[in-house]
Amino acid sequence: MKGGIDMRDILDELKGRRSVRKYKEDAVPEDLMDEIIEAGLYAPTGMNRQEQLILKITEPSAVRELGLINGKLMGREGMDAFYGAPAVLCVFSKRGARTGIHDGCSVLSNMMNEAASLGLGTCWIHRGKEQFETPEGKELLKKAGIDGDAYECIDSVIIGYPDGEIPQAGPRKECRVFTI
Ligand SMILES: Cc1cc2nc3c(=O)[nH]c(=O)nc-3n(C[C@H](O)[C@H](O)[C@H](O)COP(=O)(O)O)c2cc1C
Repeated sequence: MKGGIDMRDILDELKGRRSVRKYKEDAVPEDLMDEIIEAGLYAPTGMNRQEQLILKITEPSAVRELGLINGKLMGREGMDAFYGAPAVLCVFSKRGARTGIHDGCSVLSNMMNEAASLGLGTCWIHRGKEQFETPEGKELLKKAGIDGDAYECIDSVIIGYPDGEIPQAGPRKECRVFTI
């Protein structure tokens, strides 16, 4: 116990989280999605600007469409880069904002760890910016009511129930901590 908080629990959760790349079809319950988003809204941001937008996509055809757009950006036409996950949360920052990338990653990280602590599988997915710069991606933004000229996607987190066991994390690379 430190300051009334059980630090071990948090560390265990962080160490237990692994990227999941195979999902069951089951939808993530709304109340769990809300908790995950709330964790994102409480993420620290530069000067407490709280400028990030979070786009929740759970409509199956839209999740799949964005996953295919993302796969194509990887050079893999026809690949669902979201691995069949039923939900994705995309985080946006104001274009050109001083700490936009840092703040966006802070939000993504909070949401990913909260989802993992709820027993859900997650994976951080790159190419967020590019996926919304395609004509189809721009259409999705329009549908959501997000101004793509003012905001850029930092990255996304896919969420769902893991299909299969989540393996334990391997040992960490050494010699990465310095002290004065
Ligand atoms: C910035 C960033 C981008 C990532 N992009 C992808 C991605 O596009 N697709 C993917 O399958 N995993 C992606 N990952 C997940 C990493 O590959 C994964 O976190 C790493 O291999 C460590 O595995 P672990 O999460 O199970 O500990 C990304 C992670 C980060 C932090």
